[in-house]
Amino acid sequence: AASIFNSRILDGVRLTITAGPTREAIDPVRYISNHSSGKMGYALAAAAADAGAIVTLISGPTNLNCPERVSRVDVISAQDMLDASTATLGKCELFIACAAVADYRPAKAADQKIKKDNDSMHIDLVRNPDIVSTVANHSERPVTVGFAAETQDLLRYARGKLERKNLDLIIANDVSNSAIGFNANDNAVTAIWKDGQCDIPQMGKNQLAAQLITLIAQKFFAETR
Ligand code: CTP
Ligand code: CA
Repeated sequence: AASIFNSRILDGVRLTITAGPTREAIDPVRYISNHSSGKMGYALAAAAADAGAIVTLISGPTNLNCPERVSRVDVISAQDMLDASTATLGKCELFIACAAVADYRPAKAADQKIKKDNDSMHIDLVRNPDIVSTVANHSERPVTVGFAAETQDLLRYARGKLERKNLDLIIANDVSNSAIGFNANDNAVTAIWKDGQCDIPQMGKNQLAAQLITLIAQKFFAETR
C-alpha cells in the first residue's frame, strides 16, 4: 500500500510501543483489567512502520491483528509488559507508552479457583511498577512519549504526569466523552511538552496516529533525517 507520509520521516528509528490493557490474575480463572481496545496503540504502530520505523509492539490481550511490518510481543500482566519493555532498552530510540496498564495487581494470585464461601470478600492489591517512568529514567533512555487518559482536569493532570514521569511528550485524552478515547474509533487529544502544547481535533484513530507520528518525527527526529 502507498505510504500516507511524503517521506520516511522515522526511517530506521527503532520504536518500542506498548498497547492494550494488562490483566492481573486473581486466581486461575479471574483477573482485574480495564476497557482498552488497543486501537490507538496499534494505529500508532502501523503509522510508525509506514513512516519507516522498526517497530516492536508490546501488546496486552486485544482482538486486533498485528499491523504489517510490525513485530509483536504478546504479554498479559504489567510485570510482563515491564520486562518486555526494558528488554528493548539500548535497542530503541523511541518509546511510546499507549497501554492502559492496571495500576494494581492482587498481592498474591490464588493457586486454585476461589470459592464463594462468604457473603463478602476482599482482595489485597499492590501497586504495579510504572513502565513508562522506568523507561524514561533509565540510563539508556529513548525519547519517551506517554498518554494520559483523564475524566477531569485533563491538562493539569497530564502536565503533572509529563513532569513526574520525566517524559518528553504526553498525549492527553479526555475519556469522559465516550465518542473519543477507550473503545471509540475517534479520538481528540492535546499533545503537551515542556514548553508548549497543541490541540489535535477529533478524527479517526488512524488519521490521528499519522498526525502524532508526524509531530514526534518533527520534534525529536528531524535533524537526524
Ligand atoms: N503507565 C505505565 N505503567 C503503569 C501505569 C501507567 O507505563 N503502571 C503509562 C501509561 O501507558 C501512560 C501513562 O503512564 O502512557 C499514564 O497512564 P495513567 O494511567 O494516565 O497514569 P498513572 O500514572 O497510572 O496515574 P493515574 O491512573 O492515577 O491517573
Ligand atoms: Ca493508571
